[in-house]
Amino acid sequence: MKKMTREKPKTFHVKSFGCQMNVYDGERMAEMLSAEGMTAAQDGVDADLVVLNTCHIREKAVDKVYSDIGRLRRDDGTRPMVAVAGCVAQAEGAEIPRRAREVDIVVGPQAYHRLPGLIEKARKGETALDTDMPAASKFGALPSRAAQKRPSAFLTVQEGCDKFCTYCVVPYTRGAEISRPWSAILDEAKALIDGGAVEIILLGQNVNAWTGEDDAGSIQGLDGLARALDRLPGLRRIRYTTSHPNDMTDGLIAAHGEVEKLMPFLHLPVQSGSDRILKAMNRSHSAKSYRDVLDKVRKVRPDIALSGDFIVGFPGETEADFEATLQIVRDVRYAQAYSFKYSPRPGTPAATMEEQISAEVMDDRLQRLQALLNEQQLAFNQASVGARTSILLERPGRHHGQLVGKSPWLQSVHVQADGARIGDMLDIDIVSAGPNSLQGDIVKRKAA
Ligand code: SAH
Ligand code: SF4
Ligand code: F3S
Repeated sequence: MKKMTREKPKTFHVKSFGCQMNVYDGERMAEMLSAEGMTAAQDGVDADLVVLNTCHIREKAVDKVYSDIGRLRRDDGTRPMVAVAGCVAQAEGAEIPRRAREVDIVVGPQAYHRLPGLIEKARKGETALDTDMPAASKFGALPSRAAQKRPSAFLTVQEGCDKFCTYCVVPYTRGAEISRPWSAILDEAKALIDGGAVEIILLGQNVNAWTGEDDAGSIQGLDGLARALDRLPGLRRIRYTTSHPNDMTDGLIAAHGEVEKLMPFLHLPVQSGSDRILKAMNRSHSAKSYRDVLDKVRKVRPDIALSGDFIVGFPGETEADFEATLQIVRDVRYAQAYSFKYSPRPGTPAATMEEQISAEVMDDRLQRLQALLNEQQLAFNQASVGARTSILLERPGRHHGQLVGKSPWLQSVHVQADGARIGDMLDIDIVSAGPNSLQGDIVKRKAA
């Protein structure tokens, strides 16, 4: 029987999981669908088209996608057109509509600029699957940036990864490492600033591996890019994430002491404090080389807030290996960090290694690590009490007249600031601190 052509979707909803690069991709998809004449719906169930922009990094993230798909059926038995985008789309491809028949479109992270064509195919009931990694970058085919809802904007400058850590799917789902060109990045930054952004967060799976030629033809690294952004009027703050310890060049470290708008915050994942485990992970750095990088950064920027990622229970991890991880945490003193139980991922070398660690041992180690990290986060926040600093207001608070801003060290700060607006910078005194946020008072302006 010939299928009827479905109506063209008029409304859409994009839901992103996983890392900030996925959030950025979700924003660009939404902007593209708007440019196609569709409008954003309030939530998924009401939308004619739902894009689930997925993450494949850990098993739990993948399970969440399938449970979300199941929940898209409406009370009247109908359902929206469903597109699965992102890293699960890339990794599982045609397997997705086999496992979840509700799925109409599968589109990978390097192919989403072709979403409008895939929607047309899906309307006709044709297979709409695109997990190509085309040689020409998607960025040129996307509409330029729309006005921003938030004062802090993401800007992907680097994609993919060539590092092949033995536990990680990213090199397979995002492809080889590429850097976007200098001028494309600066043009996008200017468009974001014109659209109201006062902070730009440069993104990449290995953002500090970014390299390119500037307008004069000189080779630049991420530090050169930060210096160029520093000169853009209207921009107040620059951040970048995520970095690899081996790509932390002396130039980038120096920039932390020199580039005014570059915020004193560095997210530098180490994963483990044990050299034996780092080797098995193929991290290509040691605990010492990681510490050396941080020592250098602290020398040029003593107040820098440090963040990291940790995996506990990697295959073969002994109690002594785990103790080495606790030790590096004690030595570094993190302002905040992310820690995860190792999750075996299909197709990665670590998934088939011997000596997989039991769930009980992983739970216990994660708890101990997180207790230490939480202690450090609280200590870092408490040490800020008494400081006079500036915050960028990013969202409304819970009470009337209350707003929440970010300190230079990425802490959330609540202030009573009647009359102030999201996007304003305020001078404040930090008056109290909890584990997850701070309280600030506006610095009263002296009478002239
Ligand atoms: N490119 C970044 C981050 C990649 S993914 C980097 O190299 O650090 C974000 C974090 O997820 C990683 O830093 C790691 O801590 C965690 N992660 C990746 N694969 C994982 C896995 N299989 N199990 C558990 N955590 C994992
Ligand atoms: Fe994954 Fe390692 Fe690449 Fe980070 S550096 S994305 S952890 S393979
Ligand atoms: Fe997840 Fe893909 Fe990002 S696997 S963490 S969404 S690069």
